[in-house]
Amino acid sequence: MIYNRFITSAKARFMAKILLLCVTTILASCSNSDNKILTYRIKSPSGHLKVSFLLSSGGTAGYAVHYKDKIVVDSSAMGFTLKDAEILRHGFRMASIKEDTLRESWEQPWGEQRKMNNRCTELTVELVEKEKPNRIMVVIFRAYDDAAAFRYYFPEQENMKEMIILEENTNFQIRNNPTAWWAPGDWDIYEHLYTQSKLNQINAIAKRSHPSLGQTYIPENSVNTPLTMRFDDGLHVALHEAALVDYADMTLKVDTGSGLLKSSLVGSDRLGYKVKRALPFKSPWRVILVNETAAGLADSRTILNLNEPNKLGDVSYVKPMKYAGIWWEMHLGKSSWDKASGKHGATTKHAKELIDFAAENNLKGVLVEGWNTGWERWIGFEDREGVFDFVTPYDDYNLEEVVAYGKSKGVEIIMHHETSSAPRTYEKQMDAAFQLMKKHGITAVKTGYVGKIIPKGEYHHGQWMVNHYQKVIELAAKYGIAVNAHEPIKDTGLRRTYPNFITREGMRGQEFNAWSSDGGNPPNHIPTVAFTRMLAGPFDFTPGVFNISLKPYKNENQVNTTLAQQLGLYVVLYSPLQMACDLPEYYRGNPAFQFIRDVGVDWEQSVTLDGRIGEFVVAAREERGTGNWFVGAANNEEAREINLNFGFLPEGKTFQAIIYSDAPDADYQTNPTAYRITRQEIRKGEKLTLRMARGGGFAISLKQ
Ligand code: NOJ
Ligand code: CA
Repeated sequence: MIYNRFITSAKARFMAKILLLCVTTILASCSNSDNKILTYRIKSPSGHLKVSFLLSSGGTAGYAVHYKDKIVVDSSAMGFTLKDAEILRHGFRMASIKEDTLRESWEQPWGEQRKMNNRCTELTVELVEKEKPNRIMVVIFRAYDDAAAFRYYFPEQENMKEMIILEENTNFQIRNNPTAWWAPGDWDIYEHLYTQSKLNQINAIAKRSHPSLGQTYIPENSVNTPLTMRFDDGLHVALHEAALVDYADMTLKVDTGSGLLKSSLVGSDRLGYKVKRALPFKSPWRVILVNETAAGLADSRTILNLNEPNKLGDVSYVKPMKYAGIWWEMHLGKSSWDKASGKHGATTKHAKELIDFAAENNLKGVLVEGWNTGWERWIGFEDREGVFDFVTPYDDYNLEEVVAYGKSKGVEIIMHHETSSAPRTYEKQMDAAFQLMKKHGITAVKTGYVGKIIPKGEYHHGQWMVNHYQKVIELAAKYGIAVNAHEPIKDTGLRRTYPNFITREGMRGQEFNAWSSDGGNPPNHIPTVAFTRMLAGPFDFTPGVFNISLKPYKNENQVNTTLAQQLGLYVVLYSPLQMACDLPEYYRGNPAFQFIRDVGVDWEQSVTLDGRIGEFVVAAREERGTGNWFVGAANNEEAREINLNFGFLPEGKTFQAIIYSDAPDADYQTNPTAYRITRQEIRKGEKLTLRMARGGGFAISLKQ
């Protein structure tokens, strides 16, 4: 049913009365909401999730979210604090309201799931200030079966031509003090561990001093999104955003006393405001994912559905693949990016060795870091403008020869552009850099933004940098280039609109295991990330370390997983680019490497089979085009058994399974490389019990 009407109509008044009656009980149970009146409530297609639009007698707009009979977000206000203008928050009247149903099917060109369904109920509320300057603010709500979402829309209007936003005042009133898995609301870097605590014990300030990155910028007690919470009754809720374009990243400021989370946009000391936009414009979506299980939360596709359809057309140049690289060896200190070190990694000879290795092992790409000049002054220098050059190789690296050699072996070179957070230098050279790639037929680049942003006063997650990342994506698309950004802006599902934004980092990856002064990622990292960071989208974690002890290169660090878990990560952590990151000498002759050779990277469908946040996760994915399935699991520091049910397989087919699991005596600390391989036939509905060691995991390939 689609209808549009003014609230002044008789029918609308009647409807409003009925609805008011329906929700009186809900409102009565909420403190601070005595003077709120419900104006409208929508239900998701299943009817379980409800989003209420609220307008107080004083004209303050708000909303609430319910799932079945539970309050997910209690009545919460919305609005904006502006520069040189009155606060946009009170004195509204509702000018129009319109309910729609959305039913859309679409396909991802690549992804974790090919066929997508976008089904929800939408409510568009037009609010106008009762008094001058009579500014108009439209709020668009959506009720999905697994999420509530809303965004602000500011249409063209007489008395407001642009908005200089000092703060967005979107509240999320959380009740009942759930358990939260949170990372601090750092303006510069997402590479923090998640902490588990009750919501009222969040203390982001305590994270200001990062064990390996030094002092990072966490201005207040705020958290980054996705923020995942679990209520005592088992309901899982995560807060995030979708379609972050020309706006600032939203962190959530935590009032530990009341459970009130307030949007707190990342700012700019240089510009003195948080967002500047000319009208008309739409804000990113504010998203509240709701699910009865952690697995269900992980399988939500709503963030993608909230983004606009593909704007790029044919993106056949975006190729999911596994890749090797001149990379881990630098993090281990075996070689270096800079030539002056005397142990330059990116030489023509070495790149060819890696190409041979990739070609022999079903890896379609080779990443070469440290190929271009500038690495001698890349970190630790105040003025890094102009240091990097994105077109000039070191003299021991012949780009043309390497690319041609790769082509002859069916292996693509993945370009590397480390900007050292000097985006202006990069913007000046980007066109030439992408032209060079095009000339050589290179279709993927890994970018990087290590360090503090130049110009000073800008932060990685502010509007200015959001626009920089976007410029890179759009220019890369013109040249037919896919981008894998490290130290990126967080993923908000933009890969639907720009499918060349293939993957990114934005969390502590494998690299921390090589050098982090806190001993690397703890065993609960992956089972936490699977239900927090991964809700945002693909993660270039770079799995696949077989030399778990890191000896002889690192004596202080080791990887805190078993080898079997490293295999499981190829399935657990979705990324269309998946690295086989270890040095070839640790793969050669190791039978477990067969799983990395075999595992898919592009999926017909994906399903999280089981999991508890911070404890364990089990996922299964069906490869596109082959019908083969792959299962992966990762465990925290408590050994456990998993009862796998192969109910997800198609009827009537027999699969040849190869099972890579922890050996009975495996343990991430004392015996991490002990694994065993077993083979058996498996059909739909069969069951298998697998034991995961402390820090362990497993991987299964199921071929037809
Ligand atoms: C940090 C990235 O995450 C890492 O993968 C890369 O090797 C270094 N920067 C150098 O660019
Ligand atoms: Ca990084």
